[in-house]
Amino acid sequence: MAAEPDTALAGDNRAGSQTLNRGALQTAGGTAAVQAGADFQQLSDPLLVLVNYEVPLPEGWQVTPNFIGEETVDIRIYNDLNGMFLAAENDGITLWVASGYRSVEDQERILNREIQQHMENDGMSEEEAREYSLRTINPPGYSEHHTGLVVDLNNVDDGFEETEAYKWLKEHAAEYGFVQRYRADKVEYTGIDNESWHYRYVGKEHAQEMERLDMCLEEYVQYLKDQGVQ
Ligand code: DAL
Ligand code: ZN
Repeated sequence: MAAEPDTALAGDNRAGSQTLNRGALQTAGGTAAVQAGADFQQLSDPLLVLVNYEVPLPEGWQVTPNFIGEETVDIRIYNDLNGMFLAAENDGITLWVASGYRSVEDQERILNREIQQHMENDGMSEEEAREYSLRTINPPGYSEHHTGLVVDLNNVDDGFEETEAYKWLKEHAAEYGFVQRYRADKVEYTGIDNESWHYRYVGKEHAQEMERLDMCLEEYVQYLKDQGVQ
C-alpha cells in the first residue's frame, strides 16, 4: 500500500551551476552539439525529461513521492514499478529499490561520502577523488534521481550484472517502461560509467522504442527533436 502522496517541489532547491572538467555530450550522429545547461530545451513529455551532468533538473520540477519499501518514487512510475516487481517475483526474481527519489541535499551527502571514501581508502587527493566519484555520481542538482523517475535496484554494485535479476531486467524492463540508463557503450553520451542497477522510467512506448533503436536517453531525445517532436 502506498503512502499518501506528498507533493514536493524538487526543482526549487538546486545547487548552483557546476563547472565540470568533462567532455561535451555527443549527439546520436555526432554532428550537432547538444544544447546544455539550464536553458536546455526539454521535450514537452515530462517522462522524457533529460537530466545529466550538463543539464540540471528543470526549475519547478514536481515530485509526488510514494513509498516503495523505505524509498520513495514519483507517483508516475509507481504502478509500472510495482507491476514489474510482481512479474519478476512470479518468475522467482526478487527486486527491491535501494535508492529512489533523492533531494539535492541527499545527492550532496552521497557525493561527499564517496569522495571521502576514495580519499581515505584509496589514497586519492580530493581533486582525484572528486573526479573519480563523478564517473558514477552526478553533482547535486544534476542527478536524475531528483526526478523521482529513477530507481537503483538491489545491491547497487557491479556484481548485479552477473545476476538472474539483471538478466530478467534486460529481457523485461522495457515492457514496464524502464531502461538501463547508463551502459558501458554509451558513456560518451551520458558521462557516467556502466550502472547495471540504475533504471529510468520513460513509459512503455518510449522504452521499447529506445530498445529497438539501441539508444540512450541523450541520443533518443535528440532523435525525437530531429523528427520535429517538441
Ligand atoms: N548514479 C547516478 C549517475 C546519479 O548519481 O545520478
Ligand atoms: Zn542511480
